[in-house]
Amino acid sequence: MPLSKLNPVYIAGTGSYLPEKILSNAELEKMVDTSDEWIVSRTGIKARRIAAEHESTSDMASIAAQRALDDAGITAEEVDLIIVGTITPDMSFPATACYVQQKLGAHNAVAYDISAACSGFLYAMNIATAQIGAGLIKNALIIGAEKLSSILDWTDRNTCVLFGDGAGAAVLRPGNESTGRVHATRIGTDGRQTGILKVPNSGTATLDPEVQPVEGNATGTIYMAGREVFRHAVTAMKESALGVIADAGWKTEDVARVIPHQANLRIIDAIRERLNLPKERMFVNLDKYGNTSAAAIAIALDEANKTKSIVRGDKVVLVVFGAGLTWAAAAVEW
Ligand code: UT7
Repeated sequence: MPLSKLNPVYIAGTGSYLPEKILSNAELEKMVDTSDEWIVSRTGIKARRIAAEHESTSDMASIAAQRALDDAGITAEEVDLIIVGTITPDMSFPATACYVQQKLGAHNAVAYDISAACSGFLYAMNIATAQIGAGLIKNALIIGAEKLSSILDWTDRNTCVLFGDGAGAAVLRPGNESTGRVHATRIGTDGRQTGILKVPNSGTATLDPEVQPVEGNATGTIYMAGREVFRHAVTAMKESALGVIADAGWKTEDVARVIPHQANLRIIDAIRERLNLPKERMFVNLDKYGNTSAAAIAIALDEANKTKSIVRGDKVVLVVFGAGLTWAAAAVEW
């Protein structure tokens, strides 16, 4: 059912949190056989944040969430639903969202996690928008939070230079506000591609023969077939962006800002070319934070909001891609 048939939903506030420690490309040069030149030219990433040892995913998520609540002007007690998108939960159970509920004092909320890798935040937006739109709940807190530094093989140059830690959040509410209206969301999955991006040997599946012999892939760390992921990412993000633009009844050229997944500047450029949009319409902050998976879009949305890169009336497209494979997009009128 199109969102236009449901009650209107808007983004009432955003927040984010980045850990203090900055890990530069120059520092990575001392850890693995890489160079600032390779990382910048192949990905656009210059630095990433690394959480402190004592800092958990729910710690980062709770700070970002409280900032989003403050921005929305509502209290934790008013929240009906908390969804955390993460692949680096505090522990396998209870859900990281339960810890967030506890830390915020959001005792009236239902809280659970979504495992959709990088797409987790926009999966959460899709679910929360549907529940609010159907009148089942009022206020939802959607969060993307990751401590990816905890699942990286710091001897594998193919992956360790790409990722970072952080959290972002948004508050969704019912209402016909003129700013932040969610006009469309789409989510998608292709389980045939589970093999190209995963954390092998981290769960109940027997040891993964595809990955075990590969030098440099420690048990329980990220494995990625980069080129294949790249190819799928471009197609899926282009199609889901065009999908929500059509669902919202917009024209592509009217989109003021695309907030794409912050994985690789070359992927962002490839999508921009396919959408035929000028460079300045793409929001980019991966140079500072690298790829923070489920947190990336949420952090970028908050930064775009707070720095006025998106302003009232802007047609904004959020679009993401991740392991699963999963993808998602949203069309929001700011
Ligand atoms: O958020 C989840 C979604 N993830 C993504 O969207 C990531 C998608 N993939 C990518 O962004 C790119 O494929 C990467 C950035 C991961 C890799 O870039 P690439 O241009 O596809 O490089 P490649 O994997 O084909 O490797 C090219 C060369 C290889 O050397 P040889 O075989 O040509 O001698 C690699 O060993 O670059 C080498 N290489 C590196 N060299 C220096 C790989 N990583 C590094 C490194 N430093 N960190």
